[in-house]
Amino acid sequence: MEQINLSSPDITQAEIDAVTEVLRSGRLSLGPKVEEFERAVASYVGVKHGIAVSSGTTGLHLLIRALGVGHGHEAISTPYSFVASTNCVMFEHARPVLVDIDPETWNIDPRQIEAAITPKTRAIIPVDVFGVAPDLDAIARIAARHNLRIIEDSCEALGAKYKGKMLGSFGDAGVFGFYPNKQITTGEGGMIVTNDGDIARLCQSMQLRAAIPAWAGSLTSASATTTASATSPVPSARCR
Ligand SMILES: Cc1ncc(COP(=O)(O)O)c(C=O)c1O
Repeated sequence: MEQINLSSPDITQAEIDAVTEVLRSGRLSLGPKVEEFERAVASYVGVKHGIAVSSGTTGLHLLIRALGVGHGHEAISTPYSFVASTNCVMFEHARPVLVDIDPETWNIDPRQIEAAITPKTRAIIPVDVFGVAPDLDAIARIAARHNLRIIEDSCEALGAKYKGKMLGSFGDAGVFGFYPNKQITTGEGGMIVTNDGDIARLCQSMQLRAAIPAWAGSLTSASATTTASATSPVPSARCR
């Protein structure tokens, strides 16, 4: 029986040449190609900042960390997603709260979100499952009413739109994944996208293993602009 893959990367000579160029350059981690890629994705999505990371999971984790979601907090997401949408919350010792899906969209049902909000809730993580958005306008209204942050898990949605606007550009920040079953691939890889300069700087610091000490905290931490990385270690997920 012939096996038909659900997805497979489309590698041409152009990709092989591009990788060879990088191998010959000696810049195998951060470097001009990564920066070019960050600018290209940010511009394509229509946001100010792109921060390349080692996976979509890492991107979600860095955002949870950057937004100060931690011990004693809750974050709302959907049960119908890849496990990273909720694992990222547990990595920081917060509690994921799952809200059921809308049978029409297969995405989180905004009509059920408010009943799940408690004084501990800090963020909503809507997922653009299979590149289809939930009702992001309704989610934005709920987040504004309850002063919650939105992390858009757009790992499956590069290039898709909601009401004419690129997915990933809603909420405080979004994340794309570049695993080989995604729209484009870097092997392993991901990208945080945001218009928020503070979130971008925090994630860039963590991407650099907190080598920019001034940004080693989180946005809700009083120490965000003052402490060194020694008091605020980077998340366990490997960045790059
Ligand atoms: C919805 C969703 N979120 C997060 C991830 C995690 O991305 P990665 O596999 O790059 O860590 C994926 C990837 O499969 C995904 O589909």
